[in-house]
Amino acid sequence: MNSHELRRLFIDFFISRNHKEISTASLIPENDPSVLFTTAGMHPLVPYLLGERHPLGKRLVDTQKCLRTGDIDEVGDASHLTFFEMMGNWSLGDYFKRESITMSHEFLTGSLRIPQEKISVTVFSGDESAPRDDESAEIWKGLGYPENRIFYYSKKENWWGPAGLTGPCGPDTEIFYDTGKEKCSERCEPSCNCGKYVEIWNNVFMEYTKDKDGNYKKMPVRNVDTGLGLERALAIINGASSVFDTDLFMPIIEKIEALTGVKYSEETRRQYRIAADHLRAATFILGDDKAVSPSNVDQGYILRRLIRRVYRYLSQMNAPSQAMSGIAEVIIDLYSDVYPELQRNREFVVTQLKHEEEVFSRTLGQGLKIATKYLDKASEGRKLSAQDAFRLYDTFGFPFELTQELADEKGIAVDVSGFRDLFAAHQEKSRLGAAQKFKGGLADNGEETTKLHTATHLLNSALRKVLGDSVYQRGSNINPERLRFDFSFERKVTPEELAEVESIVNSAISEGIDIVCEEMPVDDAKAQGAIGVFTDKYGERVKVYTIEGYSKEICGGPHASNTGELVSFKILQEGSSSAGVRRIKASIGK
Ligand code: ALA
Repeated sequence: MNSHELRRLFIDFFISRNHKEISTASLIPENDPSVLFTTAGMHPLVPYLLGERHPLGKRLVDTQKCLRTGDIDEVGDASHLTFFEMMGNWSLGDYFKRESITMSHEFLTGSLRIPQEKISVTVFSGDESAPRDDESAEIWKGLGYPENRIFYYSKKENWWGPAGLTGPCGPDTEIFYDTGKEKCSERCEPSCNCGKYVEIWNNVFMEYTKDKDGNYKKMPVRNVDTGLGLERALAIINGASSVFDTDLFMPIIEKIEALTGVKYSEETRRQYRIAADHLRAATFILGDDKAVSPSNVDQGYILRRLIRRVYRYLSQMNAPSQAMSGIAEVIIDLYSDVYPELQRNREFVVTQLKHEEEVFSRTLGQGLKIATKYLDKASEGRKLSAQDAFRLYDTFGFPFELTQELADEKGIAVDVSGFRDLFAAHQEKSRLGAAQKFKGGLADNGEETTKLHTATHLLNSALRKVLGDSVYQRGSNINPERLRFDFSFERKVTPEELAEVESIVNSAISEGIDIVCEEMPVDDAKAQGAIGVFTDKYGERVKVYTIEGYSKEICGGPHASNTGELVSFKILQEGSSSAGVRRIKASIGK
């Protein structure tokens, strides 16, 4: 079975059980500053999991583009990836544990014909915030899973979410596939990461929300959120030895072979896998309609790190210059029938990769000169100080492994543990910075973020009124203090234009208009002139929020009920975000 067939089989299985298919959302979350990327299928559904009505009803299914950097050091083995596709099904206050577990069991053992004896499951062992999940265990037993293949684990293993700092979460039951490898020890179990057991599906029973103070509160509705890894499932049903040995990756690997002349073999496979994984991730980030480009902050920084790592691995294999963009074209061809945005943004992907390669090879050249200087200085003591090695890395973007290689050649030792200490201190500082920055977010549906969301709609339409219809949203990010809105526009917005935009939004606020929400088929929304992200799925129903006389936009919500609640609106700054994209930050009155 190939990847197309598997995606379809999954979606059709749940459609036949009364689920509605929804489109994949952007890899860059909307209005949620608590995470940089969409890390799970539930992420775009947070408002609905918190109680907003979904226009397609209570049972949903999709395949969602996801990106996680947490496992980046594991990439290169048989099953870990940064970018991956998560197949998921949801119950929004509809079915719960019994149906959810039964459907997963039926899909795996029936549709995919995975032998039941290869499957082990885990359930939550209970603590002060929620009891042991005996209900799930009993359901598994009833389906024929013996006690010795049901494992009970604590919150660390068997609790999922929230995706950011606050929001929906709950105990989960995870499904593992036994690869048949030898146990690594007597105590080898699904929680062990030796590779014998591979997690394939996670069913989360979302009965709780975590609040800002870290408390778990029961929600009025009980939801189910599940995630089945497409790549892992595909490898398993085809008996492939890794997620890379599938139709999702082989054309990428073959292109790298063709460009480098190096064979994909046991010796080279780690390099190959990292290059293929990271470049696929980079292509999906660049290929998203949000137009993220490499930079030193947020998503742009992760993107830059991924691209630079690929460049290094490809260089080690003597790839010709600009090999990355050629490989990215193969990735675009491979995926654009499922993800048409890649085709739409092909030129952007290719140009950005070429540009980043040029910038990085210059950086490397410069770093090389400075490294040589430092190493000459160090040659007397035959030791390069941790400070110098860290400065090369931090200030000049020079990879630490390169410093080590150069030092080795000259017979100079590097203070590795000193470097690691400085590196750890630096990471801790950025982690604290990030935690500070990521407080709040729409995930907690706070009053301020909800109002700022309404202000974003007013700003979007005011910008189109003043600057023309070529303006469209490229990204939105809200925290309780301010909104941030990215939109396509070629030049700086003049102070006069900004003043006009501000005044339009302020008149909408002073008129005290009710915000009206209607549900309709996407074609009707289009016909009514609504703006917003149009999904690629035919016949999908959407929510349209109207602020009469000002704005009509497709959106999941939630919103303020009347514009008067915003009190006033102020643009704080306007600047460039990336080529052809401007960024405005604004706040409202309190
Ligand atoms: N949200 C759950 C996960 O990511 C399904 O594992």
